[in-house]
Amino acid sequence: MASITVNEQLATIDVAGEKPLLWALREDLGLKGAKYGCGVGLCGACTVLVDGQAVRACVTPVSQAYDKTVTTIEGLDDELGRRLKNKWKALKVAQCGYCQTGQIMSAYHLLNQPEQASPEPIAQRLNNICRCGTYVRIHQAVSEVSAEMGARGLTDGQ
Ligand code: FES
Ligand code: FES
Repeated sequence: MASITVNEQLATIDVAGEKPLLWALREDLGLKGAKYGCGVGLCGACTVLVDGQAVRACVTPVSQAYDKTVTTIEGLDDELGRRLKNKWKALKVAQCGYCQTGQIMSAYHLLNQPEQASPEPIAQRLNNICRCGTYVRIHQAVSEVSAEMGARGLTDGQ
């Protein structure tokens, strides 16, 4: 038995420590927002935050989240999280939608970094894969939310 705090709720889970965090979230805690894509840490569909850091939950043992704080798309309800979700809807970013929870989690992590002021285009700082090719809308959404939040230096690369 181990304790894990997910979306501000303390949960006790009884799983092998090497079980991927993604499957602990989906199977043991019923949180289906993080998706299984590649399973090898490449695509980002499974992205969640552990103590504020974006991790690829498919290759992160659940034991690495013990006694830490995990945030999934379901719990992303602070101002930045709400703005991102609303912008995704307003710009109709998603196509099939499968990758988009991971995209939003990565965008949240990017915009939440104190060092986010950077001349590097957003496109070079977000590396989640979208098989539907929605990158232009993703970058537009991140750029607009960044501007709304008063962030400096993020550009959409255009
Ligand atoms: S499913 Fe985790 S990175 Fe692709
Ligand atoms: S919207 Fe279909 S994979 Fe990204």
